[in-house]
Amino acid sequence: MITAGPTREYLDPVRFLSNPSSGKMGYALAEEAQKQGAKVMLISGPVGAYCHTPPPMRVIPVTSAQQMYRAVMQHAKQTDILIMAAAVSDYRPEKTSPHKVKKRPGPMTIRLVRTPDILAALGKMKRARAQHPPEADQPPAEAAPLLVGFAAETQNLIKNARDKLLKKNCDLVVANQVGKNHQGFASDQNQVFLLDRDKNITRSPLTSKRLIARFILRHIKKLLSKR
Ligand code: CTP
Repeated sequence: MITAGPTREYLDPVRFLSNPSSGKMGYALAEEAQKQGAKVMLISGPVGAYCHTPPPMRVIPVTSAQQMYRAVMQHAKQTDILIMAAAVSDYRPEKTSPHKVKKRPGPMTIRLVRTPDILAALGKMKRARAQHPPEADQPPAEAAPLLVGFAAETQNLIKNARDKLLKKNCDLVVANQVGKNHQGFASDQNQVFLLDRDKNITRSPLTSKRLIARFILRHIKKLLSKR
Protein backbone atom coordinates (compact mmCIF):
# COMPACT_ATOMS: atom_id res chain seq x y z
CA MET A 1 0.00 0.00 0.00
CA ILE A 2 1.28 3.41 -0.96
CA THR A 3 -0.15 6.82 -0.08
CA ALA A 4 0.63 9.75 -2.35
CA GLY A 5 -0.06 13.41 -2.95
CA PRO A 6 -1.32 16.12 -0.64
CA THR A 7 -4.55 16.22 1.34
CA ARG A 8 -7.00 19.09 1.29
CA GLU A 9 -8.72 20.35 4.39
CA TYR A 10 -11.69 22.43 3.33
CA LEU A 11 -12.71 25.59 5.14
CA ASP A 12 -15.71 26.12 2.86
CA PRO A 13 -16.66 24.77 -0.59
CA VAL A 14 -14.07 26.97 -2.35
CA ARG A 15 -11.10 27.19 0.08
CA PHE A 16 -8.78 24.65 1.58
CA LEU A 17 -5.55 24.16 3.52
CA SER A 18 -2.98 22.06 1.64
CA ASN A 19 0.66 21.89 0.50
CA PRO A 20 2.56 21.80 -2.82
CA SER A 21 3.02 18.01 -2.98
CA SER A 22 2.59 16.84 -6.58
CA GLY A 23 2.22 13.14 -5.81
CA LYS A 24 5.03 12.32 -8.26
CA MET A 25 7.20 10.46 -5.72
CA GLY A 26 4.34 8.25 -4.50
CA TYR A 27 3.15 7.53 -8.03
CA ALA A 28 6.70 6.68 -9.17
CA LEU A 29 6.98 4.25 -6.24
CA ALA A 30 3.62 2.68 -7.07
CA GLU A 31 4.47 2.21 -10.73
CA GLU A 32 7.94 0.79 -10.05
CA ALA A 33 6.65 -1.53 -7.32
CA GLN A 34 4.01 -2.91 -9.68
CA LYS A 35 6.61 -3.35 -12.43
CA GLN A 36 8.71 -5.34 -10.00
CA GLY A 37 5.83 -7.71 -9.26
CA ALA A 38 4.04 -6.18 -6.27
CA LYS A 39 0.25 -6.04 -6.06
CA VAL A 40 -0.14 -2.34 -5.39
CA MET A 41 -2.93 -0.36 -3.77
CA LEU A 42 -2.46 3.39 -4.11
CA ILE A 43 -4.35 5.75 -1.83
CA SER A 44 -4.06 9.13 -3.45
CA GLY A 45 -4.85 12.68 -2.46
CA PRO A 46 -5.80 15.16 -5.22
CA VAL A 47 -3.05 15.20 -7.88
CA GLY A 48 -2.74 16.59 -11.41
CA ALA A 49 -3.43 14.77 -14.66
CA TYR A 50 0.33 14.09 -15.05
CA CYS A 51 -0.02 11.40 -12.37
CA HIS A 52 -1.47 8.24 -13.86
CA THR A 53 -1.46 4.62 -12.87
CA PRO A 54 -1.05 1.63 -15.12
CA PRO A 55 -3.60 -1.17 -14.63
CA PRO A 56 -4.18 -3.40 -12.72
CA MET A 57 -3.20 -1.06 -9.88
CA ARG A 58 -6.04 -0.35 -7.47
CA VAL A 59 -6.36 3.37 -6.77
CA ILE A 60 -8.49 4.82 -3.99
CA PRO A 61 -8.90 8.59 -4.41
CA VAL A 62 -9.34 10.62 -1.22
CA THR A 63 -9.38 14.31 -0.39
CA SER A 64 -8.87 14.92 3.31
CA ALA A 65 -6.53 13.45 5.94
CA GLN A 66 -9.51 11.85 7.68
CA GLN A 67 -10.58 10.12 4.46
CA MET A 68 -7.02 8.96 3.84
CA TYR A 69 -6.83 7.62 7.41
CA ARG A 70 -10.06 5.64 6.99
CA ALA A 71 -8.98 4.19 3.62
CA VAL A 72 -5.55 3.17 4.94
CA MET A 73 -6.94 1.60 8.11
CA GLN A 74 -9.57 -0.31 6.18
CA HIS A 75 -6.97 -2.03 4.01
CA ALA A 76 -3.82 -2.05 6.15
CA LYS A 77 -4.40 -5.52 7.57
CA GLN A 78 -4.14 -7.19 4.17
CA THR A 79 -0.89 -5.38 3.38
CA ASP A 80 2.70 -6.42 3.94
CA ILE A 81 4.52 -3.25 2.88
CA LEU A 82 3.13 0.16 3.81
CA ILE A 83 4.78 3.19 2.18
CA MET A 84 3.39 6.48 3.45
CA ALA A 85 4.59 9.00 0.87
CA ALA A 86 1.61 11.36 1.13
CA ALA A 87 2.08 14.89 2.46
CA VAL A 88 -0.78 14.76 4.92
CA SER A 89 -2.02 17.98 6.45
CA ASP A 90 -1.41 17.89 10.20
CA TYR A 91 -4.29 20.30 10.85
CA ARG A 92 -7.76 20.96 9.49
CA PRO A 93 -10.22 23.79 10.12
CA GLU A 94 -12.35 22.84 13.12
CA LYS A 95 -15.50 23.78 11.19
CA THR A 96 -16.20 23.47 7.49
CA SER A 97 -18.84 25.91 6.32
CA PRO A 98 -21.37 24.44 3.87
CA HIS A 99 -21.45 27.81 2.10
CA LYS A 100 -18.75 30.19 0.91
CA VAL A 101 -17.53 32.31 3.81
CA LYS A 102 -18.08 36.00 3.01
CA LYS A 103 -15.44 38.58 3.84
CA ARG A 104 -15.97 41.03 6.67
CA PRO A 105 -14.00 44.06 7.83
CA GLY A 106 -10.88 43.28 9.88
CA PRO A 107 -8.85 40.10 10.35
CA MET A 108 -10.24 36.59 10.44
CA THR A 109 -9.27 33.81 12.83
CA ILE A 110 -9.59 30.18 11.85
CA ARG A 111 -9.30 27.55 14.56
CA LEU A 112 -7.38 24.49 13.39
CA VAL A 113 -7.51 21.06 14.99
CA ARG A 114 -5.22 18.05 14.49
CA THR A 115 -5.90 15.42 11.86
CA PRO A 116 -5.20 11.75 12.61
CA ASP A 117 -1.53 10.80 12.17
CA ILE A 118 -1.82 7.84 9.81
CA LEU A 119 1.82 6.75 9.99
CA ALA A 120 1.83 6.90 13.80
CA ALA A 121 -1.39 4.84 13.92
CA LEU A 122 0.22 2.19 11.67
CA GLY A 123 3.31 2.22 13.89
CA LYS A 124 1.08 1.49 16.90
CA MET A 125 -0.72 -1.27 15.02
CA LYS A 126 2.63 -2.83 14.15
CA ARG A 127 3.75 -2.70 17.78
CA ALA A 128 0.50 -4.34 18.93
CA ARG A 129 0.91 -7.13 16.38
CA ALA A 130 4.49 -7.74 17.43
CA GLN A 131 3.31 -8.13 21.03
CA HIS A 132 0.42 -10.43 20.07
CA PRO A 133 1.68 -12.42 17.09
CA PRO A 134 -0.98 -14.15 14.96
CA GLU A 135 -1.57 -17.89 14.82
CA ALA A 136 0.75 -19.87 12.59
CA ASP A 137 -1.97 -20.36 9.94
CA GLN A 138 -2.34 -16.62 9.32
CA PRO A 139 -0.43 -14.96 6.47
CA PRO A 140 2.90 -13.34 7.42
CA ALA A 141 1.57 -9.90 6.48
CA GLU A 142 -0.71 -10.11 9.51
CA ALA A 143 2.38 -10.48 11.65
CA ALA A 144 4.64 -7.62 10.74
CA PRO A 145 4.09 -5.24 7.86
CA LEU A 146 7.15 -3.29 6.82
CA LEU A 147 6.44 0.36 7.55
CA VAL A 148 8.07 3.14 5.54
CA GLY A 149 7.59 6.82 6.41
CA PHE A 150 8.73 10.00 4.74
CA ALA A 151 10.25 13.05 6.38
CA ALA A 152 10.27 16.31 4.46
CA GLU A 153 12.32 18.81 6.42
CA THR A 154 13.76 22.27 5.93
CA GLN A 155 16.33 21.91 8.73
CA ASN A 156 18.03 19.24 10.91
CA LEU A 157 17.12 16.65 8.28
CA ILE A 158 18.82 13.59 9.74
CA LYS A 159 17.94 14.30 13.37
CA ASN A 160 14.27 14.99 12.60
CA ALA A 161 14.07 11.93 10.36
CA ARG A 162 15.62 9.69 13.02
CA ASP A 163 13.16 11.03 15.61
CA LYS A 164 10.29 10.18 13.23
CA LEU A 165 11.66 6.67 12.61
CA LEU A 166 11.61 5.94 16.35
CA LYS A 167 8.49 7.89 17.36
CA LYS A 168 6.31 6.44 14.62
CA ASN A 169 7.84 2.93 14.87
CA CYS A 170 8.90 2.78 11.21
CA ASP A 171 11.34 0.30 9.67
CA LEU A 172 12.61 2.89 7.24
CA VAL A 173 12.34 6.66 6.83
CA VAL A 174 12.93 8.39 3.53
CA ALA A 175 14.25 11.84 4.40
CA ASN A 176 14.46 14.71 2.02
CA GLN A 177 15.33 18.33 2.31
CA VAL A 178 12.55 20.61 1.10
CA GLY A 179 12.64 24.32 0.46
CA LYS A 180 15.70 24.02 -1.83
CA ASN A 181 15.48 24.65 -5.56
CA HIS A 182 14.64 21.82 -7.97
CA GLN A 183 14.21 19.24 -5.28
CA GLY A 184 11.51 17.62 -3.19
CA PHE A 185 8.00 19.02 -3.35
CA ALA A 186 6.53 19.25 -6.83
CA SER A 187 9.87 18.88 -8.66
CA ASP A 188 10.93 16.06 -10.99
CA GLN A 189 14.22 15.45 -9.21
CA ASN A 190 14.97 14.46 -5.68
CA GLN A 191 17.75 13.36 -3.36
CA VAL A 192 16.92 11.29 -0.31
CA PHE A 193 18.54 9.75 2.71
CA LEU A 194 17.30 6.36 3.88
CA LEU A 195 17.45 5.78 7.63
CA ASP A 196 16.80 2.32 9.03
CA ARG A 197 16.64 0.84 12.51
CA ASP A 198 20.21 -0.48 12.29
CA LYS A 199 21.27 3.17 12.19
CA ASN A 200 22.33 2.94 8.55
CA ILE A 201 22.05 6.15 6.56
CA THR A 202 22.14 5.65 2.79
CA ARG A 203 22.27 8.64 0.48
CA SER A 204 20.82 8.56 -3.03
CA PRO A 205 22.17 10.61 -5.90
CA LEU A 206 20.23 13.71 -6.98
CA THR A 207 18.19 12.16 -9.75
CA SER A 208 14.73 11.54 -11.19
CA LYS A 209 11.91 10.41 -8.93
CA ARG A 210 11.69 7.18 -10.96
CA LEU A 211 15.31 6.29 -10.07
CA ILE A 212 14.75 7.39 -6.47
CA ALA A 213 11.75 5.02 -6.39
CA ARG A 214 13.99 2.14 -7.56
CA PHE A 215 16.58 3.11 -4.95
CA ILE A 216 13.96 3.02 -2.17
CA LEU A 217 12.47 -0.28 -3.34
CA ARG A 218 15.94 -1.85 -3.46
CA HIS A 219 16.46 -0.90 0.16
CA ILE A 220 13.02 -2.22 1.14
CA LYS A 221 13.83 -5.57 -0.50
CA LYS A 222 17.09 -5.69 1.42
CA LEU A 223 15.22 -5.14 4.70
CA LEU A 224 12.67 -7.83 3.80
CA SER A 225 15.41 -10.32 2.98
CA LYS A 226 16.88 -9.84 6.47
CA ARG A 227 13.61 -10.86 8.18
N1 CTP B 1 1.88 11.53 8.12
C1 CTP B 1 0.70 10.83 8.30
N2 CTP B 1 -0.38 11.44 8.86
C2 CTP B 1 -0.32 12.74 9.24
C3 CTP B 1 0.89 13.46 9.07
C4 CTP B 1 1.96 12.83 8.49
O1 CTP B 1 0.66 9.64 7.97
N3 CTP B 1 -1.39 13.32 9.78
C5 CTP B 1 3.05 10.82 7.56
C6 CTP B 1 3.50 11.28 6.18
O2 CTP B 1 2.85 10.55 5.16
C7 CTP B 1 4.99 10.98 6.25
C8 CTP B 1 5.34 11.18 7.70
O3 CTP B 1 4.13 11.07 8.42
O4 CTP B 1 5.25 9.64 5.91
C9 CTP B 1 6.04 12.48 8.03
O5 CTP B 1 5.18 13.52 7.97
P1 CTP B 1 5.48 14.97 8.63
O6 CTP B 1 4.22 15.76 8.47
O7 CTP B 1 6.72 15.51 8.07
O8 CTP B 1 5.79 14.59 10.09
P2 CTP B 1 5.18 14.95 11.45
O9 CTP B 1 5.27 13.74 12.27
O10 CTP B 1 3.84 15.54 11.27
O11 CTP B 1 6.22 15.91 12.11
P3 CTP B 1 6.45 17.47 12.14
O12 CTP B 1 5.13 18.14 11.94
O13 CTP B 1 7.02 17.65 13.47
O14 CTP B 1 7.42 17.71 11.04
